[in-house]
Amino acid sequence: MKPILYLVRDLPAPFVSWLGDGFDVRGGGRRPPAREEWVRRAAGAQVLVPTYLDRVDEPLLVALPTVRHVASYGVGVNHIDIEACRRHGVIVTNTPGVLTAATADMAFGLLLAAARRIAEGDRLIRAGRWVEVDPSACLGVEVNGKTLGIVGFGAIGQAVAQRAAAFDMRILYSSPREADVPGARRVPLDELLAESDFVSLHCPLTPQTDNLMSRERIRRMKRGAVLVNTARGGVVDDAALAEALADGHLAAAGLDVFRDEPRVPAAYLGLENVVLTPHIGSGSVEARAAMARLVADDVLRVAAGQPPKHRVV
Ligand code: DGY
Repeated sequence: MKPILYLVRDLPAPFVSWLGDGFDVRGGGRRPPAREEWVRRAAGAQVLVPTYLDRVDEPLLVALPTVRHVASYGVGVNHIDIEACRRHGVIVTNTPGVLTAATADMAFGLLLAAARRIAEGDRLIRAGRWVEVDPSACLGVEVNGKTLGIVGFGAIGQAVAQRAAAFDMRILYSSPREADVPGARRVPLDELLAESDFVSLHCPLTPQTDNLMSRERIRRMKRGAVLVNTARGGVVDDAALAEALADGHLAAAGLDVFRDEPRVPAAYLGLENVVLTPHIGSGSVEARAAMARLVADDVLRVAAGQPPKHRVV
């Protein structure tokens, strides 16, 4: 009998063929059924393939005691209870590296879109409100010569710094570790917030970074600054951010991630100065296919008794 691999959602098309015919592949679909239902359908699976949207916790591991490998589609692992997996002797793998450029592009795209009011201009035209040529309409701010503060300076944060350097931005970063990136200066978070015209978040969501951008920290940002989040929604206090955008403390924000996806806090929806995207930081054809390839490769390695390349636990 072939081992059962349960896919919580479809991955890019070649994924199943990359697995060869060594697995009984079940699940998939664009929208999984309710959690209780997909857990029921996954009974007997040895391999579980969740995405960054699908929680893997103690009750799930108890309900699926045959699972030996959780091969997560994504680099972030905040949706997985790593300690519970360790206790249950479950291998966890992820997909680092291949989505760095895509996510950095997205962060920089949101930064430019927020600074130059691109989405707002698009909405204005579609609503038929571009009726006269007004030289003072829809004015944004330039990025060149401005300071970008990068919170979290791993691979993605550093790739954002590279892009910002090409736009002649001054770069500050806050990170537990010093990085050897010419032109980028490490400073304490509060100094970064006070000095930056743009702040881009690139830290993982952990108990330490949950609500890192609290009301108090948002208020420490420069008046008229722009906040970009392509990391995780839980890093930001949404109510406080919406308030700061509404009362003009912040000029704009670009948000790709939300605490309770796919739900987006209603407070953002009525604001013109926030650009919203549906967690598509890694959403390039190239990155999503490469992520699926890494999942398939590690599934095959573990099944063959070899060490996986991207093991988290
Ligand atoms: C990840 O891999 O963690 C990303 O957020 C997916 O886009």
